[in-house]
Amino acid sequence: MESLAARITRREEVAPHHITLELDCPAIAHAATPGQFVHVRVSGTDDPLLRRPISIMLRDNYRGRIEILVRAVGRGTAILSNLAPGSALDIIGPLGHGFPVPEEDSRVLLVAGGVGVAPLIFLADTLQLAEQQHYVRGLLGAATEDMLVCWQDFAGRCEAFQAATEDGTAGARGLVTELVSEQLQRGVDIVYTCGPRPMMARVAELCAEQSVPCWASLEQFMGCGVGACLGCVIPTRLQPKHRRVCKDGPVFSASEVAWEELSE
Ligand SMILES: Cc1cc2nc3c(=O)[nH]c(=O)nc-3n(C[C@H](O)[C@H](O)[C@H](O)COP(=O)(O)OP(=O)(O)OC[C@H]3O[C@@H](n4cnc5c(N)ncnc54)[C@H](O)[C@@H]3O)c2cc1C
Ligand code: FES
Repeated sequence: MESLAARITRREEVAPHHITLELDCPAIAHAATPGQFVHVRVSGTDDPLLRRPISIMLRDNYRGRIEILVRAVGRGTAILSNLAPGSALDIIGPLGHGFPVPEEDSRVLLVAGGVGVAPLIFLADTLQLAEQQHYVRGLLGAATEDMLVCWQDFAGRCEAFQAATEDGTAGARGLVTELVSEQLQRGVDIVYTCGPRPMMARVAELCAEQSVPCWASLEQFMGCGVGACLGCVIPTRLQPKHRRVCKDGPVFSASEVAWEELSE
C-alpha cells in the first residue's frame, strides 16, 4: 500500500491534550470502514522513525475527508497534535480489519472509554446511515467530565446514550463497565467496545457470562502496520495463538483474546 499526502483542513482542541484533525484524503475516505486505522508519519524527517496508528473517527465520503481524534501521550502524538491546518501529513490507510456488520434489527451496545470513542463514532455513524434498522445504545466512560471527549458526536448517533465518570462530575459515578450489566439485562444482541484494556477485558467477561457476542478493538505498539514485522502480536485462544493487531485486527472477537495474558 502506498503512502499518501493528506492536507490538514481543520484542527480543534476538544479536551486537555486531545485534538481532532480533519484530513483531505479522498482515497482513504472512500475505502474506509469502521474500526480501520491510518498509519501516520508525524514529522517530515525520520525522527521519530516509526509511524503512529490512529483510528478513523469519521469520514465524509462526499468531500473526501476523514477525521481523527488524537490524545497526546508521548512525543509522536504531541508533534501530531501541534500541526496547523494547511500542513501535509504522510499517511497510509485504511489499514486493518474493522468491526463486523450486525444482523438486521440488532440491539447494538457500543462501550467506549476515552479516545476509544473514535472508532465507535464511525461505527455509530455507519449504522445510523445504513439501510438496515438497528437500535444503537452508547456508553462512554472517562475519569472526569472534561475527558468525555467528543461525547456529543457519539451520543447524537445513538438512540440512547449514557456517560459515566469516575469522579461523578457527569453521568453516573463510577466505571462505565458498571453500566454494561444493566444494559445487557435489558436485552442486547451484540456489543462493540474500544478503550483501555482492563475496561475491554471486563466488558468481554460480562458479555461471555450472558452469551452475548462482543467485538473489541485492540491497541498495540506498531512497527510496519501492515503485517510484516510481527511487532504488534497479541496472545489469543486461537491456533496459531499469536495474531497481529495491525493485519488480523485491530478488531477481534472478545472471546478469542487471551485477556489474562495481555499486559496493560
Ligand atoms: C489500531 C490503533 C488505533 C489507535 N487509535 C488511536 C486514536 O484514535 N487516537 C489516539 O490518540 N491514539 C490512538 N492509538 C494509540 C496511539 O497509536 C498511541 O498513543 C501512539 O502511538 C503513541 O505514540 P507517542 O509517540 O505519542 O507515544 P510514545 O512516546 O511512543 O509513548 C508514550 C506513552 O504512550 C504509551 N503508548 C504508546 N503507544 C501506545 C499504544 N499503541 N497503545 C497504548 N499505549 C501506548 C506508551 O506506553 C507510553 O507510556 C491507536 C493505536 C492503535 C494500535
Ligand atoms: S506492526 Fe508490523 S506486523 Fe503489525
